[in-house]
Amino acid sequence: MQKFIINGGRRLRGELALQGSKNSSLPIMAAALLCRGECTLHSCPRLTDVYAASRILNCVGCRCSFSDNTAVINAETVDRTQVSEELMREMRSSIIFMGAMLGRAGECVVSVPGGCELGPRPIDMHLAALRKMSVEIRESGGSIICRAVCGRAKGAKISLAFPSVGATENIILCAATAEGETVINNAAREPEICDLCGFLRACGADIKGDGESRIIIRGKQQLHGCEYTIMPDRIVGATYLSMVAAAKGELILTNACVQEMEPFLSVLEQTGCSVYTSENRIYLRSGTRLRAVKERIRTMPHPGFPTDAQAVLMAALSLADGTSIFEENIFDCRYRHTDALVKMGADIEVLGKVAVVKGVSSLCGANVAATDLRGGAAMVIAGLCAEGTSVITRICHIDRGYENMEEAVRLLGGDMRRV
Ligand code: EPU
Repeated sequence: MQKFIINGGRRLRGELALQGSKNSSLPIMAAALLCRGECTLHSCPRLTDVYAASRILNCVGCRCSFSDNTAVINAETVDRTQVSEELMREMRSSIIFMGAMLGRAGECVVSVPGGCELGPRPIDMHLAALRKMSVEIRESGGSIICRAVCGRAKGAKISLAFPSVGATENIILCAATAEGETVINNAAREPEICDLCGFLRACGADIKGDGESRIIIRGKQQLHGCEYTIMPDRIVGATYLSMVAAAKGELILTNACVQEMEPFLSVLEQTGCSVYTSENRIYLRSGTRLRAVKERIRTMPHPGFPTDAQAVLMAALSLADGTSIFEENIFDCRYRHTDALVKMGADIEVLGKVAVVKGVSSLCGANVAATDLRGGAAMVIAGLCAEGTSVITRICHIDRGYENMEEAVRLLGGDMRRV
């Protein structure tokens, strides 16, 4: 098993171009299933989750190839509707293939994705919404067997109890080629939803209202292939900005989605570092010790503070002057990284959904294991700011979402290697 070895304490400085978004790539790759003709996706990040998605596409008969950051998917040859349990378990977001397969073939057999490192993660909203679209769903021995009653799903009015990202994506994927109109009320408004809809529109879909709470989709008989560039990854952006802010450095982030990162940037600015933005660049300078954030940092659906940036900002604030308070409102179990940060000298107390972070003046290197994707990234940040050497194991979690993190850190002058 690979690990990261980090010698902390170096000032980080340099320029990075943001990779394409993982959380856009996965639903867009699933959406390619709906298209007759080739889809070329630029800025597709080379990540283990992206490769897992391509294995699912292969498993149902698609041809999928990669060259650098371009993926070419041809769904002309889809001839199966069952995804093996083993592939489904490789990543939780495999569940979005359910809506895409239903849209493409009117039926599919997938399996229950189960819990994950962030907690139980049920799919009740996905299933209830698809049932409203005239899809019969049976669960048997861990399999979910889905079949559109008339061979093609039917548009419906769906009101989500919570703006779930995955449920919104599954409904959009199923509705794009369903019969009639689908209206999603209380839809997720995350930028990645807009990216998915942008891709689908480029393939001929009729979708309006993405980015707002009500999305209206008029089903088309068939979609065609297209060429599309995936949006930059706002969470990877938040990670490198938190890293350099904590390491008292300087960063120019290019290929950045400035507007989409605003909920994170407005909190980062409260730590006292200078942040300047232009069209697709973010410049950060952090000369002195960060200040604690006075207001409680509450994770909320977009445009609130993103849950995916909670751990990385916490790592930075563990070294700030004063006490910062986080409130995690999206996932039940998203503070698992705090034990490792405490082992490295941080002062963090977790009380249910609240974490109280009292800034310390220094951290010390330690041997820690990544608990999940963003939690692992938080440990890297702490390691880079700590005195001495840190060893981070279970970095397979980090590789799910960050393209060559060690190379990016080295480019900024950090001492981090993979062994
Ligand atoms: N939920 C339910 N029932 C459902 C669906 C969701 O109770 O049917 C609950 C979940 O258990 C969770 C909350 O609703 O407590 C939010 O879940 P949501 O469906 O919005 O999240 P997701 O689609 O499973 C995506 C991202 C996550 C990100 C969340 C929230 C992808 C592949 N994953 O997950 O990204 O944290 O939205 O923004 O897009 C990450 O990249 O590290 C990551 C975990």
